Amino acid sequence: MILSTFNNNLFDGKTALVTGAANGVGAGVARCFATLGARVLLQDIDAAGLERMSRELDFAKGGVETLEGDLSQPGVAEEVFEQALRTGGSIEVLVNNAGRSSAQNTSEITDENMQPLIELNLKSAVFLSKQFVAHARKRLGGGSIVQISSTAGIIGFERRAVYSATKFALIGLSKVLTLDHARDGIRVNVVLPHVVETDMFQRTARQDEADHWRAGIPLGRFATIDDIGALVMFLCSPAAAYLTGGVYPVDGGAMAGTYKGVA
Ligand SMILES: NC(=O)c1ccc[n+]([C@@H]2O[C@H](COP(=O)([O-])OP(=O)(O)OC[C@H]3O[C@@H](n4cnc5c(N)ncnc54)[C@H](O)[C@@H]3O)[C@@H](O)[C@H]2O)c1
Repeated sequence: MILSTFNNNLFDGKTALVTGAANGVGAGVARCFATLGARVLLQDIDAAGLERMSRELDFAKGGVETLEGDLSQPGVAEEVFEQALRTGGSIEVLVNNAGRSSAQNTSEITDENMQPLIELNLKSAVFLSKQFVAHARKRLGGGSIVQISSTAGIIGFERRAVYSATKFALIGLSKVLTLDHARDGIRVNVVLPHVVETDMFQRTARQDEADHWRAGIPLGRFATIDDIGALVMFLCSPAAAYLTGGVYPVDGGAMAGTYKGVA
């Protein structure tokens, strides 16, 4: 529905690499790109999910390819990008979406439980961005990077110290990439989902928790996958040609302040 805002040919001739594209937000973003004409490279650790998404997106006139890999393993991000280049053509858009959350008390933080989150949420985005920048500079064509951070990248949520640290870090990464590569024609922006109604959320969220979160959102509802997808489409489109280094909450107003709904 929201996508009817955009021209169906918006990304004709462009290729978008989306990580974590087998489920949730990444699947939604990939579906948006496919609908608007892009060739889509779906990356994920979930082989069955990739197969399902590939079938679901078989309407994509730009074509769909899948790239399986565990981005929490050192070195895999670089391999994934090399593999993506071997599928042919250039890559104009990178969406670093793959990420996991974890909750623990401070005393429970260990090197073992922290490392996979650092690798996936932060380092894979660093190395995929690095490869993308090298590719874009080589072909002198510029491009667009979107990092999927979180509102946990600008404020704290209880028991999410490590997750939040990785999401704050994505913003720092993007600010510096912006400065270093604006003159290469590479734009870098950060999207901050707050609470998104993914399949997993609907399956796992407890009713009382969901009610509590919803009550803090001025617009009174959670984000849909398409709310996130629409912003990513805009940021990667020519309409956003002057936007780089930006940080954009998709939060129904939640970051505007503490909402008690008494107005
Ligand atoms: N859903 C929300 O409410 C919400 C809120 C804020 C931020 N985010 C962010 O949005 C992004 C997507 O979240 P989501 O809710 O869609 O999660 P999800 O769990 O539904 O989907 C994440 C996808 O990433 C893939 N993935 C997980 N580990 C991987 C790995 N090691 N290598 C490659 N792929 C891997 C999963 O298989 C899955 O397809 C994450 O970065 C998350 O932090 C989500």
